[in-house]
Amino acid sequence: INLCVIFGGASSEHEVSLLSAASVLRNIDPDKYEVHKLAISKEGGWYYYDGDAEGLSNLNDPAQWNFDRACISPDRTQKTILRFGAEGLKTYPVDVVFPVLHGKNGEDGTVQGLLELAGIPYVGSGVIGSAACMDKCIAKALFERAGIAQAAWVEMKKGEKKIDEVEEKLGYPCFVKPANAGSSVGITKAHNRSELEEGIALAFLHDEKLLVEEMMTGTEVESSVMGNLDPVCAPVVGEIAPAAEFYDYDAKYNNAASVLTIPAKLQPEIVEKLRENAVKAYRACECRGLSRVDFFVEKETGKVFLNEINTMPGFTSISMYAKLWEASGVSYSELIDRLIALALD
Ligand code: DAL
Ligand code: MG
Repeated sequence: INLCVIFGGASSEHEVSLLSAASVLRNIDPDKYEVHKLAISKEGGWYYYDGDAEGLSNLNDPAQWNFDRACISPDRTQKTILRFGAEGLKTYPVDVVFPVLHGKNGEDGTVQGLLELAGIPYVGSGVIGSAACMDKCIAKALFERAGIAQAAWVEMKKGEKKIDEVEEKLGYPCFVKPANAGSSVGITKAHNRSELEEGIALAFLHDEKLLVEEMMTGTEVESSVMGNLDPVCAPVVGEIAPAAEFYDYDAKYNNAASVLTIPAKLQPEIVEKLRENAVKAYRACECRGLSRVDFFVEKETGKVFLNEINTMPGFTSISMYAKLWEASGVSYSELIDRLIALALD
């Protein structure tokens, strides 16, 4: 199988993608796959990466990006990678793509659109599912339509400032989030009106639409869903104890003190409710392949609130998505095989 792994990306989650991709590359069975690697720079340049998994950590240095330019041809009669080297154009056939890209320009339906055009199957959700889950306002509307419990919210477009509505409907503290951004970038926890106003200004630097969400108390619990039209949620779900006041970018990637508890310490009936809602949400957003579906579980009542879906969750071997499958009996390399099989299904 000719597999093309794409990573990096013009996204605030570029570095996370490099970590995810390094794990994927380390665990792909070379007997099963002929692997080609396309690296996308932070600026959005496409390159043919001929280094190994270990070398990906060097890519944080822009001077290292001295590879041949390359891209996926949009020509669906060809299904090829085009590599523009010193000796001219080289082409490689592609059967399937694993876009290990997080956030904008990769997890949001854009790269998926290119691959649709190219007629090449790929791991993960299609254009609709990716775009819907990347836009928190759209995703919440779909969750609401599916009748899934979630935090109350207020949506704002640039130019709007619904301070009164936020104070009436949500109160403090509340969370201000850009509609489109991953890894908690641009998010503020506002404890009062001035922090709310600052948070709104910050979120609008990242996006022209934002949402303010009611503060969810309780435990953050994550679940791993896999499949196409008949998805399953891993039997084991996991709990996160963030090191910071909330699970922000730093707590996620720079701070080892955030602790994953697998399995989560929850009553079996709460786990069942959560898994059921995870699959419902996955279907509501038309996800495919994989998604990590995140919840809050209220401590006193055990009530389950949906937080968000990540259609290309952090994918290192120690990331929650893979850990939950591992705890459910699916090893990391088996997981990669299954996701590729789902893409080709
Ligand atoms: N957006 C990051 C990669 C995650 O949710 O895991
Ligand atoms: Mg995310």
